Amino acid sequence: MRIVVKIAGGVILLSSIAFNASVRAQATVNDGVFTEAQATSGQVVYDAQCKTCHNMRFYRDTLRSWNNQPLLYLWESIMGTMPADNPGSLMFEEYTNVIAYILKEQGFPSGDSELDPDNGMESISIVSP
Ligand code: HEC
Repeated sequence: MRIVVKIAGGVILLSSIAFNASVRAQATVNDGVFTEAQATSGQVVYDAQCKTCHNMRFYRDTLRSWNNQPLLYLWESIMGTMPADNPGSLMFEEYTNVIAYILKEQGFPSGDSELDPDNGMESISIVSP
């Protein structure tokens, strides 16, 4: 693309402006965004740290209310507030694995790529289970 700007009689050419810098593949939780191994590890954490206060029905409603939000925001929310009796007490990896387990239990598929809060999780959208 070439854009011509005229300023006070002079002509400045602005050529080849890159408009593609921020374009990024958008995924949803339907695209196999966690591995089976993560979900398996997540179940252990879930049973020990989450099960006493929430059942799986609760997460179905939660995911519905987070529809279209980036998965990273949910990760941050859970990390900052859960377990309610000891927020932030788990390792980052444990929070990530718990989310993988919750997604799996809600029927979303596992895949080849690991869920990673430092790598692309902001561009994975939650969809209603
Ligand atoms: C001691 C009880 C307790 C434990 C343990 C606990 N939670 Fe919670 N959780 C709560 C309460 C209370 C709320 C807020 C009220 C509600 O929505 O029911 C909540 C809310 C949530 C929400 C909703 C957040 C939102 O913004 O929509 C999620 C998701 C959640 N918890 C996940 C977890 C996960 C994952 C674990 C395990 C790591 C966990 N909780 C452990 C009590 C608990």
